[in-house]
Amino acid sequence: MRRAALLLLLLPLAGCDGIQSMTGGDGAQGAEFNSLFTLFMVVTGVVYILVIAFLIAALLRRGGKRTDVRDDPGEGHERGLTTALVVWTAFIALGLTVLTLASYFTDRSMAAAAVPANGEVLNIEITANQWWWDIRYHSPTHTETIRTANELHLPVGIPAHIQLRSTDVIHSFWVPNLAGKQDLIPGRLNDIDLLPRRTGLFRGQCAEFCGAQHAHMALDVTVESRDAFRAWWRQQAEPAKTPTTPLAMAGYNYVMQRECSVCHNISGTGATGQVAPDLTHVASRKSLAAGTLPMGRGQLYAWIADPQGVKPGNNMPYIGLEPQELHAVVAYLETLK
Ligand code: CUA
Repeated sequence: MRRAALLLLLLPLAGCDGIQSMTGGDGAQGAEFNSLFTLFMVVTGVVYILVIAFLIAALLRRGGKRTDVRDDPGEGHERGLTTALVVWTAFIALGLTVLTLASYFTDRSMAAAAVPANGEVLNIEITANQWWWDIRYHSPTHTETIRTANELHLPVGIPAHIQLRSTDVIHSFWVPNLAGKQDLIPGRLNDIDLLPRRTGLFRGQCAEFCGAQHAHMALDVTVESRDAFRAWWRQQAEPAKTPTTPLAMAGYNYVMQRECSVCHNISGTGATGQVAPDLTHVASRKSLAAGTLPMGRGQLYAWIADPQGVKPGNNMPYIGLEPQELHAVVAYLETLK
């Protein structure tokens, strides 16, 4: 029985570990924030326990008896009360001072982590849309930009400075393993700094209710070695390959001639739409529709055939492709690695 109770107590803690967790310390800012959170929990926890203890002690001392206000408790009692009050006030003041100073120093060290020792910093721009993330990477010289969607790659140990924008409503950027939250507000430029300390796959999630599909606004985050990141960058900077099979070629023609190319961009082709996710390397991503479906042939079919069935209310319309057209479009998208 006792063991079962202990297991139940541990269960919520088990939920704190993994790809979407703020206790892992996978990012410098997240680790700082976690230490501050722990200190707040300890200080406020001690105060709470003391208040409850004093309350219980007072109730027990009274022992259910009615005290008469006319009874004079004596001078000694009054002096004792004054001392207790002074000690308690000093204790509260000390606790608040500790928390204030800790907040200040945490803020300073988070800002320091954003400034690299060797000046190396990655500049990224993220625009939130209902309900997906538009991501642009700028090369250090700003001569080259790559664009992707719903998937963030970061090199370990290099600070990333991310500018945050929104095109419609307020969203919130949150990768709990790496740092705290930051809002993306229409008409306003915000930013956040990340310094990943460990490689791994993490999950980001929009953390501000932004409409019916708010929960389906996730972000795959890959923290990798510098070499792996450079290789990824080079591959993302390539234009889309021209399809080689007749079926994929038919899909290519469909995408270029029909609605798709009005909204989506595919570098190196005539599709230059900017209002929907960039599809240049869509098949290289881990998921579809901002983390709604894992990437795969079956999911591509499901998404293109009925995007409103998968994620009701999103901006991708029902196109009504004939089966042969659907086969062709999926075959083409699968070549966009
Ligand atoms: Cu975007 Cu919630």
